[in-house]
Amino acid sequence: MPPHPLLGAEAVDALEPYLEEVGTVFHAFREQDSGCVSYGVAVGDEQWFVKGATEPEATVSLRRAVKVHAAVQHPMIVPLQHSFDIAGGLALVYPWVDGTVLYHPTVSRHGGRTAPDSPMVRFRRLPVPVILQALDQILDAHLAVEQAGLVAVDFYDGCLLYDFDCDRMMLCDLDEYRPGPFILEADRLPGSRRFMAPEEFIKGSTIDIRTTVFELGRALRLLLDAGDEEQEWRGSPSQLAVIESATAGDPAHRFASVKALTHAWRGASRTSG
Ligand SMILES: Nc1ncnc2c1ncn2[C@@H]1O[C@H](COP(=O)(O)OP(=O)(O)OP(=O)(O)O)[C@@H](O)[C@H]1O
Ligand SMILES: [Mg+2]
Repeated sequence: MPPHPLLGAEAVDALEPYLEEVGTVFHAFREQDSGCVSYGVAVGDEQWFVKGATEPEATVSLRRAVKVHAAVQHPMIVPLQHSFDIAGGLALVYPWVDGTVLYHPTVSRHGGRTAPDSPMVRFRRLPVPVILQALDQILDAHLAVEQAGLVAVDFYDGCLLYDFDCDRMMLCDLDEYRPGPFILEADRLPGSRRFMAPEEFIKGSTIDIRTTVFELGRALRLLLDAGDEEQEWRGSPSQLAVIESATAGDPAHRFASVKALTHAWRGASRTSG
């Protein structure tokens, strides 16, 4: 049998012509801030998500992703199936996952979390128990991230791929996650300011699992609110108290681990008040 055109690929020239040759490109993401171009590709009755980079910085990020997926697997993390060289870069092959990212900025358009038809607005209208289940899935995946010795970088609502038909949360684009702790050598890390901890903007600071705790706390805060201004909290005061600890400015005042955060969150979510 000939090798699978995607899972068996080792090196190809230009990615898009190759994908057109071996399958049907049914979607292209050309406008991403990362500089990567990604495709939804049908090969026979299979559907794949293929992400390609040819610029050096974007390629470094995809090489990081290969290491991330080698270190951590979880049912809620879209699994990397294969990677292959393309001229000047790298391509990653994932299964295509049905769903909608809760936030999808592009080079030409940021914002839009409050547009009435946006996925974020739709998500925020779901019943609280359904949201709590999705939040629990995010925490659970990050327990695995923590176990693998990784810390979250560039985690935001653009990583949250939600299937409204079956209420399933999947995490994609964990390309910037890396082994931690580490010292920040640049002026800042990549990411969305709404999710980022203060230390991510300070050159020389330590980025560790407490940074991940902060980012997760921000996700809990933003997703369990009816609006985008953090004025319409839908949870309980005790859940809010957990978030306040998770997002303390001083890392020393946060939970020391994702495990501790998850334990506290689950405890607060079991009791009312
Ligand atoms: N496995 C998948 N199946 C289907 N769609 C996916 C999958 N992974 C990602 N997507 C979609 O593709 C979009 C781009 O993917 P991704 O976020 O990995 O690209 P990126 O180049 O890193 O973008 P950004 O610059 O916004 O970080 C996502 O917003 C999501 O809509
Ligand atoms: Mg990205």
